[in-house]
Amino acid sequence: GARIMSDLDQQLRKQAYEEVNKQKEVVESDPYRLAYHVMPPVGLLNDPNGFIQYDGVYHLFYQWNPFKTEHGAKFWGHYTSKDLVHWEHQDITLTPSDWFDKNGCYSGSAIEHDGKMYLFYTGNVKDENNNRETYQVMVESKDGVHFEKKGVVVHLPEGYTPHFRDPKVWKHEEFFYMIIGAQSHDETGKAVLLRSDDLENWEHLGAIAGAHVGPFEDFGYMWECPDLFELNGQDVLVFSPQGLEPNGIYYQNLYQAGYVVGNVDYDSVQYKHGDFVELDRGFEFYAPQTTEDDKGRRIMIGWLGLPEEREDAHPTIEHKWIHAMTLPRELKLIDGKVYQLPVEELEQLRGEGVKHEAVELGEKAQALEGVEGDVLEINVETLETVTNEITIHIRNHANLVYNPIDKLFKLDRISYVDGETVEERFCHLQQLKSVRIFLDTSSIEVFINGGEEVFTARIYPDVNENGISFAAEGEEKVTIEAWKLK
Ligand code: FRU
Repeated sequence: GARIMSDLDQQLRKQAYEEVNKQKEVVESDPYRLAYHVMPPVGLLNDPNGFIQYDGVYHLFYQWNPFKTEHGAKFWGHYTSKDLVHWEHQDITLTPSDWFDKNGCYSGSAIEHDGKMYLFYTGNVKDENNNRETYQVMVESKDGVHFEKKGVVVHLPEGYTPHFRDPKVWKHEEFFYMIIGAQSHDETGKAVLLRSDDLENWEHLGAIAGAHVGPFEDFGYMWECPDLFELNGQDVLVFSPQGLEPNGIYYQNLYQAGYVVGNVDYDSVQYKHGDFVELDRGFEFYAPQTTEDDKGRRIMIGWLGLPEEREDAHPTIEHKWIHAMTLPRELKLIDGKVYQLPVEELEQLRGEGVKHEAVELGEKAQALEGVEGDVLEINVETLETVTNEITIHIRNHANLVYNPIDKLFKLDRISYVDGETVEERFCHLQQLKSVRIFLDTSSIEVFINGGEEVFTARIYPDVNENGISFAAEGEEKVTIEAWKLK
């Protein structure tokens, strides 16, 4: 009964805090510990969950396995922030301690209603034969500090396998809506819509996107972490499809995260949308989630990681932790394309800065005074149309290259698996106007042309590999600014 389960809850919390304390020194002595990104205090972090601004405070929950640097029965960890820059770790929000979530409190979202915060998440259950069950669970909080599971509000509807999870809830006119990532019986990925007028009773409206529902014939075997929101008068559906085959420079990662843009007709339950576009062109980016804040901004945070992609090879594992969140990024829809910009509050991180105006780049790679380090923001602006290949060498471990003939932008890095192999990712780019780079001790995020394209990756240089240099195959003029970040 309830008492036994709440004993289990207490026990799991206690064990998790013990693990945090036990491994604290090992974790914190890792030179790859990030300076300004959200990380787990110990163990494995994956998806951002329940991202919301509530009572003026930003809340970011996360998928957390405190006991191992592997996936398992997930908890919900919890961070809060007043400014999206400085995050404070809070008490554990959810433990996998009930019959409906005993194998994991999986991903979900938050919504405010009548002054309270409600969370919706997927209760993951596996039986002795590894058969999966899935339940969508509601949680209530009166203060954003204490959370009470209210129980299961959605059971698996007919037509889907138990790969049915990651509820994102929002309000549109007089109804609440929930979108769920699903796999239908024919083993194709879907996004499924439900509706409620009280957050407790949910009516299944059916799939609004996925194979044979809209323009997609076949688009992966499972869609994870859907998020549907309005941006500039259009309805954007973000999701993470699994099972896409690599195609030229596209879909190079094991799993993708991207979006389609269109219009939802809530009356006929139809979503007309265009093609899928990857949100990030780098190596580690998955399962992003958005929220709207009181400034009317649509802000997205992604998981700076990727499931099943040699997670056992990340060097942070020795130090008992793995993965992080991306920087919070403000989304804009410009000419039908989602742009991502680091939120402006991040300028608070800027310490000592330098500016080199109209630097002439040439074939010999040049370093610039003050433009070096491991925790750094670099802003490069081109002054004329680029006609020669430009390269930025980063800490002996990554290179950014723009080739104006092929109109390709490339990020390459040294693989964390063998510390040797060079891996590459590309995007098409008509013209290079600016590159804004956020370096942290073991990560890189690159925002091109004001967020038109983004590359995110982990890199693991040694602490003393701090050099940055710039080169071009012919003469190119650029202005370079850099700030040490605090
Ligand atoms: C995506 C995901 C979700 C699931 C969660 C489990 O990375 O697989 O679909 O809810 O992670 O941790």
